[in-house]
Amino acid sequence: MDNNQPLLKVENLQVSYRSGKKSYNNVVKGVSFDLGRERLGIVGESGSGKSTIGRALLKLLPTAKIEADRMDFSGTDLLAASERQMLDIRGRRISMILQDPKFSLNPVHPVGAQIAEAYRVHYSASAQVAKQKTLDMLEAVQIRDPERVYGLYPHEVSGGMGQRIMIAMMLIPEPQIIIADEPTSALDVTVRMQVLNILNELVTNKGIGLIMISHDLNLVRNFCDRVLVMRHGEVVEERAARDMKNCTHPYTKGLLAAQPHIGGSRQPLPVLNRQPQALSPQETSV
Ligand SMILES: Nc1ncnc2c1ncn2[C@@H]1O[C@H](COP(=O)(O)OP(=O)(O)O)[C@@H](O)[C@H]1O
Ligand SMILES: [Mg+2]
Repeated sequence: MDNNQPLLKVENLQVSYRSGKKSYNNVVKGVSFDLGRERLGIVGESGSGKSTIGRALLKLLPTAKIEADRMDFSGTDLLAASERQMLDIRGRRISMILQDPKFSLNPVHPVGAQIAEAYRVHYSASAQVAKQKTLDMLEAVQIRDPERVYGLYPHEVSGGMGQRIMIAMMLIPEPQIIIADEPTSALDVTVRMQVLNILNELVTNKGIGLIMISHDLNLVRNFCDRVLVMRHGEVVEERAARDMKNCTHPYTKGLLAAQPHIGGSRQPLPVLNRQPQALSPQETSV
């Protein structure tokens, strides 16, 4: 495949959840973006529709109506794809890392067996080959004693290790795209840095496209190449991460101003002005 072609092309994505017998609540309103072999951040306050976009890409929204002019993954029209095709895409070609590994790991199986199983679901491999792949993968996510960790149960691992195990499980089928939905929000600061480093390395070395969903603008602008800022289901700003300081939308400006600075002044923290007039785009032209 041409390395310069986007992995994903989304045009005018609309998602509505059913809110009554015939009524729908539109929560993603005409979102368009491309994803290449890069780190794309989607940022915005809680409820702005970020997770809905991630799930819509995998058609994991049984109660929602998903529409788009285009939702194309490496030449596959995701909107037209059958459930059977989606089963092949989910996990093997596009995988999703969620905030809390506790809800994604099965409590009654050792973690190693679960990772190996994630591989064998998608590839025909002997148990032995799958185990070796798993041990290699645990090493790739910087788990020091893979043989020991292989046999642990989910309740026996810490939050940070659990998240690395999840990453190993999501990566073992060698997906082309990873959607990471608040992958580090439940982690403390040092573990968060480790997990981000691992993701970063894997994206760089394997040429994966990463969508990093977060409410934390500081995190995404430091970690990602490009950032989409969402508000009320719409993208209000799209910008290279390093160019974020030149943002023009008042909402983005407000988010940036509300970021605390380490070693900065001890004045009261700025808060985001949520008055509608303070956040309307027209205000930028003054
Ligand atoms: N299953 C659902 N049914 C109905 N409404 C939902 C469902 N999931 C999310 N929503 C609503 O859709 C909006 C966007 O949610 P979400 O995509 O989870 O936002 P974010 O990830 O940015 O916090 C919110 O208003 C939320 O209440
Ligand atoms: Mg969310």
